[in-house]
Amino acid sequence: MPGALALRRLALRRFRSYPAADLDLPPAGSVAIRGPNGAGKTNLIEAISLLSPGRGLRGAGAEELARGGDALGWRIAAEVDGLGGRREIVMAGASGGRSVEIDGKAAPQAALGSALRILWLTPAMDRLWVDAAAERRRFLDRATFSLIPGHAEAATAYDRALRERGRLIRDDVRDPAWFEAIEARMAAAGAQVIANRRAALALLAAPAPAPGFPAAELALERAGPEAEADLAAAWRSGRARDMAAGRTLTGPHRDDLAALYAAKAMPARLASTGEQKAMLISLTLANAAAVADAAGATPVLLLDEVAAHLDADRRAALYAALDALGAQSFLTGADPELFAELAPSASRLAVTERDGASLVASG
Ligand SMILES: Nc1ncnc2c1ncn2[C@@H]1O[C@H](COP(=O)(O)OP(=O)(O)O)[C@@H](O)[C@H]1O
Ligand SMILES: [Mg+2]
Repeated sequence: MPGALALRRLALRRFRSYPAADLDLPPAGSVAIRGPNGAGKTNLIEAISLLSPGRGLRGAGAEELARGGDALGWRIAAEVDGLGGRREIVMAGASGGRSVEIDGKAAPQAALGSALRILWLTPAMDRLWVDAAAERRRFLDRATFSLIPGHAEAATAYDRALRERGRLIRDDVRDPAWFEAIEARMAAAGAQVIANRRAALALLAAPAPAPGFPAAELALERAGPEAEADLAAAWRSGRARDMAAGRTLTGPHRDDLAALYAAKAMPARLASTGEQKAMLISLTLANAAAVADAAGATPVLLLDEVAAHLDADRRAALYAALDALGAQSFLTGADPELFAELAPSASRLAVTERDGASLVASG
């Protein structure tokens, strides 16, 4: 079994509802976090999710995260069993943004991907298959980052060039030389983005990962060319049309992710709510197994309110699948009953809230 990436210590200061929290965590296995609604369970795993590149599981801006808007800002410090051994990550934020230190040295956010891999499943994702395509693209890109860390750079470069082209269009710039240079950068990054997404989807194609959790067949849904030269040619010939539309109408920023509920050969959006949830769990497990293969270590899993959707048999199947994977997994739920089927060796944390301050204790 590959090793597990894991948080071993976590210290929060002035983060959302937590004035301060300090946790010691086991190197693998499940961590059940229980507590009433609004106690601070999601805030706790959101802090963990911020230790991966991006804006975490709520997509929050740095200014939302300080407790009561505290001007001192917030801080998350973690000791992790990371890729390449024990690492110390410190993230501090205030209204101006956030900064990252790894092992005492300032690091760009993208460097977090070389220390840890974190995957999550949250209630906000329940509508993934019926939501707008942008949500599915983000989901696909997160899965792609987890498997191909260089994807972050390609995606950022593409977005930046796309925004620059958008500016030329809005400013009604007619000089082709400006477009040529930007479209060349868009084409180089865009071809890489598409190739990375395809490669990630190939790695995610897996049979049903556990009994009760049906496989989803994923496909990249896109129109237009994929090769760098063809992308550049398409944008060149599409300039007049894009000027008329006021934006770039083709390219990987319009891609979508199609999912089929394999057992019933039915588009995922037509499956029942429970079936859609089960498929998302399958995908998360498949993603975790693919990361274990690609990176040689299982990712940290954050499963927010996942247990509540499952009957007792499915819960037991999920817990068995997590055990078999060997990952460090954080599970939240309001009802302690939800964790009855967890192995006795699992860690248990209780979150309570008083006067707007969250407190986490073991037990
Ligand atoms: N920046 C913040 N400062 C103080 N409290 C916050 C902040 N952001 C969110 N909260 C509080 O955190 C609570 C929600 O915590 P959450 O982790 O979502 O609860 P749950 O246990 O239900 O998952 C809410 O009461 C909310 O007001
Ligand atoms: Mg919650």
